[in-house]
Amino acid sequence: MGKRVLVLTGGGDCPGLNAVIRGMVKRAGQLDAWELMGSVEAFHGMLREPMELVRLTRETVAGIHVRGGTILGTTNKGSPFAWPVKRPDGTWENVDISDDLIRKLQIQQIDAVVNIGGDGSQSISQRLYEKGVPIIGVPKTIDNDLSCTDFTFGFQTAVEVATDAVDKLVTTAASHSRLMILEVMGRDAGWIALSSAVAGGADVVLIPEIPFDIEKVAVKIRSRMNGRKGFAIVVVAEGARPKDGGQVSKQSGEAGYQNVRLGGVGYALQEALQAVFPELSMRVTVLGHLQRGGTPCAYDRILATQFGVKAVELIRDGRFGRMVVYRHPDIVDVPLAEAVGTYNLIQPQHYLLQTARGNDICLGD
Ligand code: F6P
Repeated sequence: MGKRVLVLTGGGDCPGLNAVIRGMVKRAGQLDAWELMGSVEAFHGMLREPMELVRLTRETVAGIHVRGGTILGTTNKGSPFAWPVKRPDGTWENVDISDDLIRKLQIQQIDAVVNIGGDGSQSISQRLYEKGVPIIGVPKTIDNDLSCTDFTFGFQTAVEVATDAVDKLVTTAASHSRLMILEVMGRDAGWIALSSAVAGGADVVLIPEIPFDIEKVAVKIRSRMNGRKGFAIVVVAEGARPKDGGQVSKQSGEAGYQNVRLGGVGYALQEALQAVFPELSMRVTVLGHLQRGGTPCAYDRILATQFGVKAVELIRDGRFGRMVVYRHPDIVDVPLAEAVGTYNLIQPQHYLLQTARGNDICLGD
């Protein structure tokens, strides 16, 4: 029997979102009379007057698996449970408009919703499911911090970008006998930093899971600089913090934006190290959104396409309130309630940490 499915991408964008959408459309096309609709900019398309919905057909998704970003647009401002509304005095308040959303889903005769997003989006999925919405979650994020899945799509592409940056910094650092600090994304998880540090052969990697001791970092750098003829590469995750200090962050002034914006630890680290090595030439590179943009690598396209196919099969089987996950070698599903709330952070016994230590990479502890 035919189904009308609403698809949306929420939160920060991520390489592979389009491959999920295309994977869904193709799989749904093999089933009888399925119709896929996309909501523009997460739930905003559904909630706006007039609504902004687009029909997703084989024609509209042709070739999009190689494209970064999302053809549907996305936003991390405004959950249906905390929708920013401007008061007459110009200030903003967050209002719960989830009942409006549910009413609109019914008017549009939506049989199922597929929410492709990170932890914040999947928390919304779970709350909507608790209110009776037949919903499926698909995990995305370059940070790889969603629990219950071995990997999220987008992560491997970010690691490729960060590793390429390490490789490039090595050549310029060696030419100038410099210390190069590379700040990468990842929020409270150090996966991008640790992976690119191992792949690129960095000297130091600082991750949120292990608060660092600047003196330990200095010892490693001294040994690498070898007087003034050496060079050193430090990869620091945006969420890393010294053992006696906090993360470097700022509040976003954007209405409805609920996250703390991390960033700047690279410069703070430079300042701290320059105090120890006043003569040493240092430069900081903040990789930023380059890690999120552009073409997904093959691995992420494959994972994303598998997630898209699985999401359609869950709907076909009437299995809602579930999140699609990768558990090597299979694509399976878990209850959304299990997947949200706890993060996939690097555990002390993880072999990648042992590998870093076994390759003389200093973790600052
Ligand atoms: O969660 C993905 C991510 O890129 C984080 O690594 C980063 O901290 C954050 O999003 C940046 O968000 P924004 O694009 O809103 O600045």
